[in-house]
Amino acid sequence: CFHGRVVSKFCVLTVKVIHQSEGAGPLVSADKKLLVLTVATQETDGFHRFMQSANYFKFNVKVLGMGEEWKGGDVGRSIGGGQKVRLLKEAMESLADQEDLVILFVDSYDLIFAGGPEEIFRKFQQTNRKLVFAAEGIIWPDPRLAEKYPSVRSGKRFLNSGGLIGYAPYIQRIVNKWDLHDNDDDQLFYTKIYVDPLQREILNMTLDHKCEIFQNLNGAMDEVLLKFGTERVRVRNTVYNSLPAIIHGNVNTKIYFNYLANYIPNVWNYEQGCTICDQDMVNLLFSLSKQEFPQVTVGIYIEQPTPFLPEFLERFLSQDYPKDKLNVFVHNSVYHEKHIQKFWEENKDVFRSFKVVGPEENLTQGEARNMGMDLCRKDLSCDYYFSIDADVMLTNRQTLKLLIEQNRKIIGPLVTRHGKLWSNFWGALSLDGYYARSEDYIDIVQGKRVGLWNIPFMAHIYLIKGQTLRNELKERNVFVLERLDPDMAMCRNARELGVFMYVTNRHEFGRLISTANYNTSHYNNDLWQIFENPLDWREKYIHPNYTRIFTDNLLEQPCPDVFWFPVLSEKACDELVNEMENHGSWSGGKYKDKRITGGYESVPTDDIHMKQIDFDKEWLHFIREFISPVTLKVFSGYYTKGYAIMNFVVKYTPNRQAYLRPHHDSSTFTINIALNNKGLDFQGGGCRFHRYNCSLESPRKGWSFMHPGRLTHLHEGLPTTNGTRYIAVSFVDP
Ligand SMILES: *[C@@H]1O[C@H](CO)[C@@H](O)[C@H](O)[C@H]1NC(C)=O
Ligand SMILES: *[C@@H]1O[C@H](CO)[C@@H](O)[C@H](O)[C@H]1NC(C)=O
Ligand SMILES: *[C@@H]1O[C@H](CO)[C@@H](O)[C@H](O)[C@H]1NC(C)=O
Ligand SMILES: *[C@@H]1O[C@H](CO)[C@@H](O)[C@H](O)[C@H]1NC(C)=O
Ligand SMILES: *[C@@H]1O[C@H](CO)[C@@H](O)[C@H](O)[C@H]1NC(C)=O
Ligand SMILES: *[C@@H]1O[C@H](CO)[C@@H](O)[C@H](O)[C@H]1NC(C)=O
Repeated sequence: CFHGRVVSKFCVLTVKVIHQSEGAGPLVSADKKLLVLTVATQETDGFHRFMQSANYFKFNVKVLGMGEEWKGGDVGRSIGGGQKVRLLKEAMESLADQEDLVILFVDSYDLIFAGGPEEIFRKFQQTNRKLVFAAEGIIWPDPRLAEKYPSVRSGKRFLNSGGLIGYAPYIQRIVNKWDLHDNDDDQLFYTKIYVDPLQREILNMTLDHKCEIFQNLNGAMDEVLLKFGTERVRVRNTVYNSLPAIIHGNVNTKIYFNYLANYIPNVWNYEQGCTICDQDMVNLLFSLSKQEFPQVTVGIYIEQPTPFLPEFLERFLSQDYPKDKLNVFVHNSVYHEKHIQKFWEENKDVFRSFKVVGPEENLTQGEARNMGMDLCRKDLSCDYYFSIDADVMLTNRQTLKLLIEQNRKIIGPLVTRHGKLWSNFWGALSLDGYYARSEDYIDIVQGKRVGLWNIPFMAHIYLIKGQTLRNELKERNVFVLERLDPDMAMCRNARELGVFMYVTNRHEFGRLISTANYNTSHYNNDLWQIFENPLDWREKYIHPNYTRIFTDNLLEQPCPDVFWFPVLSEKACDELVNEMENHGSWSGGKYKDKRITGGYESVPTDDIHMKQIDFDKEWLHFIREFISPVTLKVFSGYYTKGYAIMNFVVKYTPNRQAYLRPHHDSSTFTINIALNNKGLDFQGGGCRFHRYNCSLESPRKGWSFMHPGRLTHLHEGLPTTNGTRYIAVSFVDP
């Protein structure tokens, strides 16, 4: 790892947490010891998190039952958990003779430490009891036992078996009473003992009524608040004003618990930021040659007509990752055949494999997503499954690598709508399972809190380990569940299977585009996206050197008061010409013109108005956004509101109209953008200004002339001698 040699397939940078430490742990005081016992039959993400918090405080932890089959039932939803008592009973056989040993027995998948051994030991001693159980306000599993509970003046009345602490001999005495089955209920067992006054006294038992040690979140979510300290984060119970040392996300509080555990005990805080982000990473950069890069199956989903699809595909292709390690699966459900056809032809031999499923297969979104995921699941050589929807513009070429390196079972990069709070994850869920905003959502989206976030829902783009698909998510149809949307089904499955979903905002990855209001009835539909996706529109259609007008004064003045500057990209020019040719109804340069008020044009051109292709609103917006700043610069202080009645594309060609006689424009100023290349597409052409005896004979594609219209700049269009010349013209007023 550290000498550039390949140690294992992926070089794990940090040492794995140590799960078991036998024998004497750290001494709490001179002669007292605290040993944590927990039951975990599998190393789930929750278990890993538990151990991380335990290691942070240097607890001495012993894990019981690892690798054993779980027979304790589905404790989250019904009774069960007896297996935990049986395992504890077995473990106590060798511990019970240590009279001063304090045993802390806790759940692990949904529990973390917020305080250390000294604190817990002290709080336990302050109770002056031999056995202390966690408490909660909700009775479970047998409400009929409620009346038997001793009443409490203040505090939580009912026993919870997710946490108990006591002297070893007393723990042994209580668990020795267990002679039930693994799937019987542990909480009921302890409850029956507790509600018996005699037993309660003999065992010297009590409950942690005021959450000094144990905080169960069930029924108590609105009692607790995150409390940020300089080194540590914990929760405060605002009802009892206590600082519980153990937080337990029991029953239906997992999502809120996951949120708390994104901070506690020192996962993230204001001073240090994310402290665990670099743990357990794999390093692709130093330890692997390209041959050894993991194999990734990529699922690309085009589930609705999506603007800027060619740009999406280009950005995907520019990912810095060996293509022969990628198996690509594309589901195109609509409209984009011509883009996919081109993508296929150009790349069919580039990837390790390439499969396209088109609209003719008539797959539902869920079926398509299952199909893509299954390609990885069934292929034992598939290390990762990378799912990306066509509305994700990846601007970071390292995205795939960065996600792999983070080494999580499921992880997605944060992507947001440009300038909006809309993102690809939810920080919380409403009661009916839809979007709800977590307290930290805005800070995460805006990058004010940076890290890895365990969240309940994400979509659009994520990476899943092949191993996870073949183990935890081996259920084939993870995208089909009741009537849920496929993404919601997938996330609910992951949550219920205890697989954490992380979103990372440690880097800038890209953005989400809007697919709303995408009208596909034009020829080049992206041209119309100036309102819905302004940033992508600008990147595609504005000249790459446009901003240099303002930064480097990239602006020429070939004739007096005639300014010349780059504004449209090659693509904008080509698509506009295509759009017009596709529309096809060129006016023919006649004097009679029904399209204008008065019905008569004294200097007619062979043209199509922007309005005729329904592009006038978009074009005027373009003038406001991109031409106005230039007028402000050159006609100092003149800012146009971009009011222009006449906006059109003119075509000059020798066998129709080749030139335009001298004239004034009916405008305050005119812009005239060359849409193709002299020499390449046509010969001749250009523009002559009579007053200054000045001709512009070499128009540049995408560059605009801008000159005053009515009085000073009498001009003519010089003859196009061969080929076809196109220009876009606007008469801007006032
Ligand atoms: C419980 O044990 C403590 C000593 O640890 C003792 O002081 C206390 O009286 C006992 N309480 C009961 C109810 O037996
Ligand atoms: C596609 O499937 C839907 C429902 O699954 C069905 O209603 C529709 O007729 C199918 N269309 C074609 C072209 O097969
Ligand atoms: C889409 O564009 C066409 C052609 O310009 C137009 O007729 C239609 O009304 C538009 N549809 C919507 C929903 O805006
Ligand atoms: C932008 O300007 C640079 C520097 O003058 C030039 O090399 C480049 O070709 C220009 N880009 C385009 C698309 O014209
Ligand atoms: C206009 O300029 C051309 C050369 O650019 C010159 O030959 C011609 O004489 C000029 N005409 C007038 C009227 O100045
Ligand atoms: C006119 O253009 C065509 C192609 O557009 C070209 O083949 C031809 O050589 C051109 N003629 C002249 C005189 O430049």
